[in-house]
Amino acid sequence: MATASITMSEAQFNTLRKIVYERSGIHFQDSKKYVLESRLSRRLEEMNFENFDQYLMFLTAGPYQTDEFQEMFNRITINETSFFRNEPQLEVFEKEILPEVLEARKDTKRLRIWSSASSTGEEPYTLAIQIHRTLGVRLPDWHVEILGTDISEKVLMTAQSGVYPSYSIRTLNPLILKRYFTEEKGTYALDPTIKSMVRFELLNLKDAISARRFGTWDVIFCRNVMIYFDDQMKTHCTKLFYDQLAKDGALFIGHSETLRNIDVPFEPIPVPHAFAYKKADGTGKGEA
Ligand SMILES: C[S@@+](CC[C@H](N)C(=O)[O-])C[C@H]1O[C@@H](n2cnc3c(N)ncnc32)[C@H](O)[C@@H]1O
Repeated sequence: MATASITMSEAQFNTLRKIVYERSGIHFQDSKKYVLESRLSRRLEEMNFENFDQYLMFLTAGPYQTDEFQEMFNRITINETSFFRNEPQLEVFEKEILPEVLEARKDTKRLRIWSSASSTGEEPYTLAIQIHRTLGVRLPDWHVEILGTDISEKVLMTAQSGVYPSYSIRTLNPLILKRYFTEEKGTYALDPTIKSMVRFELLNLKDAISARRFGTWDVIFCRNVMIYFDDQMKTHCTKLFYDQLAKDGALFIGHSETLRNIDVPFEPIPVPHAFAYKKADGTGKGEA
């Protein structure tokens, strides 16, 4: 654990985590004070602040607050991800859910997928690879839209570049690596066709109004972010996903996450390793 050069008092921690929660729904438990302290003390140094009171003042008052919130989220979010993360779940997407959705959309040939906490892009690009290999030569006949969104501007810049360090491809099947990436001086550039299938937008899941502007989705992924939320924020997000999911669509959450205690009518799709849900009553908007 890195030692923070500027220490944070309990009172400063409580003020800061309340602000972070109100803005983003990210809940820092008591035991996570060191995360905020170590990640932000460097920022304080860069800005020549002597203590967290000065930073809190800067964050909440004055004309720069919006930019600083962005900078803060760039630093305090946990962005861990990788290509084909939790492969058994992605197999369920590719082998079970995707064929059903393609069949259901065969007339319109329109497919819309949302990766709602996409981090540096590995998740939505993985979905693009899966769709690319499933549709094969039929791909040009389809209008495929894959959107990756995240609260951190910094991760989205990496996502948009489509170029990854060796760490990101650490678990990747060598055949996929060979087929979809070009190595250059130790970095891996994604195939331009796959890159062009995904677009990225800055979006805070707390902001349901902005999220609704993107319309309705056939499949929504929200993996490994709800672990940072409390039940109130999880309910907010799950309601949002319910409203924005086509009536025959599917929601995927992370394998260590659950919708238990969340009062939104989703039911598990009975496939092993999936952690996937569909609308229990099949209501809502039609296709995406
Ligand atoms: C651990 S990563 C998960 C990435 C990917 N979904 C996966 O499972 O590999 C969690 C991401 O959620 C983002 N995040 C946290 N709070 C958010 C919020 N309120 N709105 C949107 N994204 C958020 C973080 O910036 C981070 O990039």
